[in-house]
Amino acid sequence: MSDIEPIVQGAPAGFAIPAGVFAQTVTSVEHYTDRLFKFRITRPGSFRFRSGEFVMIGLPNAEKPVYRAYSIASPSWDEEIEFYSIKVPDGPLTGKLQKIQPGDTVLMRKKPTGTLVNDALLPGKRLYMFSTGTGIAPFASLIRDPETYEKFDEVILTHTCREVAELAYGEALVKGVLEDPLVGEFAAGRLRRYATVTRQDYGRRGRITDLMTSGKLFEDLGVPVISPDADRGMICGSMAMLQETKTVLEGFGLAEGANSKPDTFVVERAFVG
Ligand code: A2P
Repeated sequence: MSDIEPIVQGAPAGFAIPAGVFAQTVTSVEHYTDRLFKFRITRPGSFRFRSGEFVMIGLPNAEKPVYRAYSIASPSWDEEIEFYSIKVPDGPLTGKLQKIQPGDTVLMRKKPTGTLVNDALLPGKRLYMFSTGTGIAPFASLIRDPETYEKFDEVILTHTCREVAELAYGEALVKGVLEDPLVGEFAAGRLRRYATVTRQDYGRRGRITDLMTSGKLFEDLGVPVISPDADRGMICGSMAMLQETKTVLEGFGLAEGANSKPDTFVVERAFVG
């Protein structure tokens, strides 16, 4: 290991990288709408995580950086780390984070964690990933991990947003997975994306909770109604969305699991700020 301190772009004079934190370099940034963007950073050689986990990230722009939990959107085999974020104009972190450029430094705490992991679910036939807004991020990781397809025959990624433009990240993501030389082979014919919009005209409209209770989701997909024998679920979105989707899944007889006690569905809140 070298004793040369890495360059920390954007840090105040005398800034020292805190213990337990990696300082990584931004490699690319892509803006989707005035509310959404994706960025990628270099991956520390020693950093290990399970696809679907989250990590705390911050910026070195203050003596005491503000950290927020972010789901890692890249799979565990990727040599970079990807994040998908909202932009809050005066947000303590995203206010500044939305302005990052390649070459800038992002801080990342060393310990990843989370419940949206394959290990927290019992084996099953069909895995549903229910997401709204930036809640698609952990699923962006999981659908790029061959392990997901080893465990489940079918993977259905639902993504609901207020507006059509907010679906762009998920659309490009799934297309990329199917075209990927490594994961595409696993995902072919088994990964399906089900996108809906709630506040604009679009082919498929409505909240996923309503589409499940009305049965339209299952009709559209041509699959049986969710049952604990065949189906597993992962949920990521706002607090209200998590709660309501959880209630719907419980109505179908599924039960919430955890790392320590795998069951038929798991829940994580979408980390924003
Ligand atoms: P809606 O437009 O009807 O509020 P948000 O940006 O507020 O997190 O919303 C993202 C998407 O999630 C929107 O399409 C929104 O629908 C939907 N949504 C919000 N709350 C819930 C909920 N409790 N259950 C299901 N979907 C929800």
